[in-house]
Amino acid sequence: MNADLSIELGGIRFKNPLVISGGVPSWDILIKAIEQGVGGVVFGSIGLRPLSSHPPPFIIRLPYGFVNAYGVRHGLNSVEGELLRIIDLAERFDSRVICSCVEERVEDMIELARRLEGLGCSIVELNLSAPVIREILEKGLNIEVLEEITRRVSREIHVPLSVKLSPLILDPALFTRRLYESGARIIHLSNALSPALVLDYRTGRPALKTSNGLGALSGPAIKPIALAKVYLAAKDNPSIPIIGTGGVSTWKDLVEMILAGAWAVGIHSTIYLHGIKIVKELLKGLTKYLVEKGYSNVNQIRGLSYKNN
Ligand SMILES: Cc1cc2nc3c(=O)[nH]c(=O)nc-3n(C[C@H](O)[C@H](O)[C@H](O)COP(=O)(O)O)c2cc1C
Repeated sequence: MNADLSIELGGIRFKNPLVISGGVPSWDILIKAIEQGVGGVVFGSIGLRPLSSHPPPFIIRLPYGFVNAYGVRHGLNSVEGELLRIIDLAERFDSRVICSCVEERVEDMIELARRLEGLGCSIVELNLSAPVIREILEKGLNIEVLEEITRRVSREIHVPLSVKLSPLILDPALFTRRLYESGARIIHLSNALSPALVLDYRTGRPALKTSNGLGALSGPAIKPIALAKVYLAAKDNPSIPIIGTGGVSTWKDLVEMILAGAWAVGIHSTIYLHGIKIVKELLKGLTKYLVEKGYSNVNQIRGLSYKNN
């Protein structure tokens, strides 16, 4: 027996709810994930122009997750060929490509979004929560600013717009509703949690070489926070598509994100710990859970946590 894992985000069908969320350090990971059967991948975040903000290390492993400050942003021109290759592969595997933009100025976001749409992305995502770009992070906590950006970008493209938010927002239900009303068709909750500090006890200095030494926390440690944001957002907005990301590393985490109200579920840090084979394991676990519980499709369990309360 099998269960139907397909879902829809902003009118786009995904063969299953599993998505590789933004920022993986090599395009090979995305290629392998598509081959392993993932529902979608986020390409980027990329900018119009490249940016290199600080020297390595970019990521530090801790017992309960990672602290990262990914200091390199690719410019679209240098990755266009890779993007087209991934879009082509994704089409053959019935997978979707979400392209993530990170830019400081709204005019640049619009230009980038338009170009990404033109290249064939299924969904454009605005990374309005980049934890180490202070200007973007601050904007991303201000609902009026987010509404303005969302309105202006969504008017300029035809594919659905996803907005990725910080786990620092206090009222995810309000942000979700107001950004949907401003033209976002998908809300992605959430990015890594910042600020986070790793100190080197030997030198007394921060281990990351960002200007202020700070980075952002991801992985298992942030799962309860990400889960709570999804739960709060979905409970009040059950008809708005949400991608739930943060700390998912087992099929049980995946099931819990969907029970909390996520339509799709993003994974990132777990790939560094378990490799891309995790994609198959997660999908197998989800299917087994659905079949054993007597569900015929994954949408039947979405939001059961708040429906049961
Ligand atoms: C090294 C690293 C780089 C990341 N880069 C991006 C990025 O470019 N764009 C983005 O939207 N999110 C980025 N993220 C955030 C992840 O997509 C994800 O939202 C976050 O890590 C929480 O999920 P996780 O606990 O499964 O890692 C990055 C995370 C890490 C660890």
